[in-house]
Amino acid sequence: MQPDFWHQRWQDNQIGFHQDQPTPLMLKHWSSLQVPTGARVFVPLAGKTRDMAWFASQGYRVLGVELSRIAVEAFFEEHGLTPAVRESRYGTHYEAGNVELVCGDAFALDAAALADCSAVFDRAALIALPPALRERYVHELHARLPSGCCGLLITLEYPQHEKDGPPFSVIEDEVRSLYARDWNVTTLERRAILEQQPKFAEEGVTALDTVVYRLQRRD
Ligand SMILES: C[S@@+](CC[C@H](N)C(=O)[O-])C[C@H]1O[C@@H](n2cnc3c(N)ncnc32)[C@H](O)[C@@H]1O
Repeated sequence: MQPDFWHQRWQDNQIGFHQDQPTPLMLKHWSSLQVPTGARVFVPLAGKTRDMAWFASQGYRVLGVELSRIAVEAFFEEHGLTPAVRESRYGTHYEAGNVELVCGDAFALDAAALADCSAVFDRAALIALPPALRERYVHELHARLPSGCCGLLITLEYPQHEKDGPPFSVIEDEVRSLYARDWNVTTLERRAILEQQPKFAEEGVTALDTVVYRLQRRD
């Protein structure tokens, strides 16, 4: 997807992916990662997700990156926060409390920008990207995360021929082959969710699973 696609989605408020509450499967599985309080959590392709506010409420520091200024400014406004704003080579940084959100292209973040992130949380990020960008997302962006980093990845799986992405279907074989080079991947949960996602059924999708993975970066 080109940046214009996402800018237009935010401009038109077509943000069906946004949830009013923190991601339930994240709430269920995050503690199993045993990420210590105070650690920095990287949230790529962040939108204005409430997951960032939840991480901050748990004592984590958050580094999010998001293309859309509308999304970034909405996040702080919706949480009653007035961010400090500064420019860097990565984009425009908005920072308040424990949340720093960079308005810019995730692929422009280098190892220095990600150096003190000990965890990564991906909900609707990998699956927002078409195949060629998924490869860059894992082999370039995730490759810049420090060794020892762990993470939670939440994907969707459905018969891709039944509907166009995004969100794209990213099956377990693809997740494993994308991450195999640098990460150990453990499947934590697979759940059939078509009944809770009527819009997919309306579009002709006949089966829909969500899958939660634990990621552990190897040294
Ligand atoms: C499907 S949304 C998911 C947002 C968020 N993770 C959530 O769960 O609500 C994907 C987001 O990624 C952003 N995005 C897409 N490509 C990006 C890029 N290259 N760098 C930063 N953000 C990007 C889009 O603007 C959009 O807000």
